[in-house]
Amino acid sequence: MQIYKVGGAVRDRLLGKPVTDIDWVVVGATAEEMLAKGFRPVGSDFPVFLHPKSGEEYALARTERKSGRGYGGFTFHASPEVTLEEDLIRRDLTINAMAEDDHGVLTDPYHGQQDLENRLLRHVSPAFAEDPLRVLRIARFAARYAGLGFQVAPDTLELMRQLSESGELEDLTPERSWKEISRALMEDHPQVFIQVLRDCGALKVLLPEVDALFGVPQPAAHHPEIDSGVHTLSVLEQAALHKQPLSVRWACLLHDLGKGLTPQSEWPQHIAHEHKGLKLIKQVNERFKAPRDCQELALLVGQYHTHGHRALELKPSTLAELLQSFDVYRRPQRFEEFITACEMDARGRLGLEERAYPQADYLRGAAIAVRTVAVQPLLEQGFKGPELGEALKRERLKALKVYKEQHSQ
Ligand code: CTP
Repeated sequence: MQIYKVGGAVRDRLLGKPVTDIDWVVVGATAEEMLAKGFRPVGSDFPVFLHPKSGEEYALARTERKSGRGYGGFTFHASPEVTLEEDLIRRDLTINAMAEDDHGVLTDPYHGQQDLENRLLRHVSPAFAEDPLRVLRIARFAARYAGLGFQVAPDTLELMRQLSESGELEDLTPERSWKEISRALMEDHPQVFIQVLRDCGALKVLLPEVDALFGVPQPAAHHPEIDSGVHTLSVLEQAALHKQPLSVRWACLLHDLGKGLTPQSEWPQHIAHEHKGLKLIKQVNERFKAPRDCQELALLVGQYHTHGHRALELKPSTLAELLQSFDVYRRPQRFEEFITACEMDARGRLGLEERAYPQADYLRGAAIAVRTVAVQPLLEQGFKGPELGEALKRERLKALKVYKEQHSQ
């Protein structure tokens, strides 16, 4: 049997990037031989094994044929006769279809090195269409390597468009889609992920609520970029520039969905878009079974981002309600994430990327003010149960009044 390093490990080494996982392909072996060498099988009929010591993935060289729609619709053909070239031709991109033997000799039948040099994300063969998840993968690679100047090859984009129009993206499981979306959002240029999905028509299938934002104008005074979709991409770009966590990036992507529902007659105003967007945010959260922290933050940012921007004008009672809605006493981190999402929203506007955002420190100070209200003196005064809750609320409101007054001096 011959064993080769394949896929991302070869690509990233040639790009001079750190290699984290290594995938291997095994040519000329049977499943029985792998088991005899102590490899552990992954699943029952998948020709992939884990190395007994390193735990790395070793796949038998295989050809794949489609037998139906969806991820279940695959038949695998793995046999010792399948050649390395036959295995590589069914892979997604030429830059992912190179193999290296243990002497470092490269096998590159589909010109992956040339595409690395030309900064092109190009499919290897029509077999690309066998897995619709690749539409998301390619958009994710575009987001990852945009800084190096990579672009999707026009004929690959065309294939992605055909796949998006075929309806097959709808068969992807929420788990597989979310894995790609969440990884893409954590790349250096997550806005490129959304842009590429839009360019090939996948955005209107996967995230029609985000797609609907493009072409929707906002008032130029607050939004020199005008377009709500362009704004959303810029907010996401800011979140990545500021190294924000996934929950913040997810909230940034979804914060303005309500603007897609505004009747044209009301443009460029979007009255109550915060509230109108909530059902869309919920719908998107559920579609991808996003993790709880992402779901919650997206809903809270959707509902309250305008409060964030108007923080300095808010009455102490409104500020108190805001802090209460975030359960800032038990969940200070979530409130901090809200503040940064608001800041990204304020900066994700044409020409305003470097603007000051004094609201952030003001909100942080307000959270500290209410959190320093001590319970002990109230207990000593004999408050308990619901009365204690009311007394705490009163004290916190008092603290916010003092805070606001001090701040406006
Ligand atoms: N692959 C593919 N089609 C897919 C998934 C994977 O062709 N839908 C192939 C590619 O050759 C890829 C390899 O399997 O390089 C390994 O896949 P994976 O580990 O998911 O990706 P990497 O390319 O290693 O990329 P990453 O750095 O994102 O892990």
